[in-house]
Amino acid sequence: MDLFTYRNGELYVEDLPVRHVAEKVGTPCYIYSRGTLEEHYDRLVAAFAPIAPLVCYSVKSCGNLGVLRTLAARGAGMDVVSGGELARASAAGVPASKCVYAGVGKTDAEIVAAIHAGIGLLNCESEAEFENIACLAAREGATVRVALRINPDVDPKTHRYTSTGKKETKFGVDLERARQFFARYGRDRHARLEGLHLHIGSPIYTVDPYREALTKTAALVDDLARDGFEIRSIDLGGGFGADYESAQSPPLKHYADAILEIAKPLYDRGIRFILEPGRTIVANAGILVLRVLYTKTSGDKRFIICDAGMNALLRPSHYGSFHFIWPVAPDAAYLPSRRALDPEIPGTVAHDVVGPLCESGDFLALDRMLPQNIARGDLLAVFTAGAYGMSMASRYNSTPLPAEVLVAGKTAEIVRARETYTDLMAHELETTPIEVGAVDAALAEATR
Ligand code: LLP
Repeated sequence: MDLFTYRNGELYVEDLPVRHVAEKVGTPCYIYSRGTLEEHYDRLVAAFAPIAPLVCYSVKSCGNLGVLRTLAARGAGMDVVSGGELARASAAGVPASKCVYAGVGKTDAEIVAAIHAGIGLLNCESEAEFENIACLAAREGATVRVALRINPDVDPKTHRYTSTGKKETKFGVDLERARQFFARYGRDRHARLEGLHLHIGSPIYTVDPYREALTKTAALVDDLARDGFEIRSIDLGGGFGADYESAQSPPLKHYADAILEIAKPLYDRGIRFILEPGRTIVANAGILVLRVLYTKTSGDKRFIICDAGMNALLRPSHYGSFHFIWPVAPDAAYLPSRRALDPEIPGTVAHDVVGPLCESGDFLALDRMLPQNIARGDLLAVFTAGAYGMSMASRYNSTPLPAEVLVAGKTAEIVRARETYTDLMAHELETTPIEVGAVDAALAEATR
């Protein structure tokens, strides 16, 4: 579901023509629909109501403060993986107590800051990390709640780069080591080991990997209870799909039904649940709008050259991901009756949609059927771009980051201004001589 619809011959975001927004803020720009964000969040909460989870939105999927504030106002907590993301959550008004903090490589400075902020849970990924957390918490005279991220060795059957629940990945601790882990650290007074965390991959297109991972987790909960350790919370991570027009993702309810079957009895025993969805909330709530700079042919190949490519949206070139692309104001003959690309629309021909960067890998779509009359000056919308779009954008080739706009009904707000060339160089305009020996202080200052 989303609130991007073709009406009156052009694409609307909620009740505003996308064209008007793009003309106002320029391109490339990301446009988010607040109503879509809210609807997705509400649907998720409703689907999982029987286990009343704390929904910690995954900041890495789209960390714009406007998006975070929208979800925070609905009651969301946040899943963070860096000091920077925790700072974003805090700037959006989310108390640290509603944040969970994962990541295989948290620095001492990040751990201490999270402890001082009163983080809800530190999701610990290794023995070495636990020892460090415990040591830092003791040094600070503090206590912190910790969940062990387990690696259930389940294949989520997704892209190799985003598969995280298999043993050979860097994430979590093997199930076989989990009992030992609790035996060794489960009585620490400063780092209170009381939860289990898992995140097996993203996006996951079937419910079976969740079922398998949770079944193994439930067995571990029982083993740990026998060992005298009571698990208070289980964080199931994220990974639910979004509609990329490929019809691969089951509806949210299917994920929920499969999970609830195993989770509800645990909930009834007093275990609290946490979810960390990103993509399923924000992917369809955002589009990337680009301007066509030129069209050209090379041999049989037709190219549409846009004012941004992999710098604004890395997913197609990095993972080979599919994003539906269509003109913002197509000729009447090309108005999609449904958004999905209909290869039967007469007059569509194969194009590579590419960006301006100096790499052949700089593309948004290859051999994509698009109207043959797309011309210089047209606006194109890249759909389902809200998740891992702007958050993975780069300034490669010294291209300023796109603007971001949040739309609610008929109102639009620039929630991130387009970067300027001065922004690009901001940290280079003044150079700072350093004395060797003062390097540590400078680094500490830089990451403060
Ligand atoms: N929790 C943890 C610990 C994670 O690592 C992630 C995503 C999530 C939650 C949220 O997963 P989601 O619900 O959004 O699927 N850049 C890739 C996706 C990488 C996901 C990384 N971790 C992409 O563009 O597809």
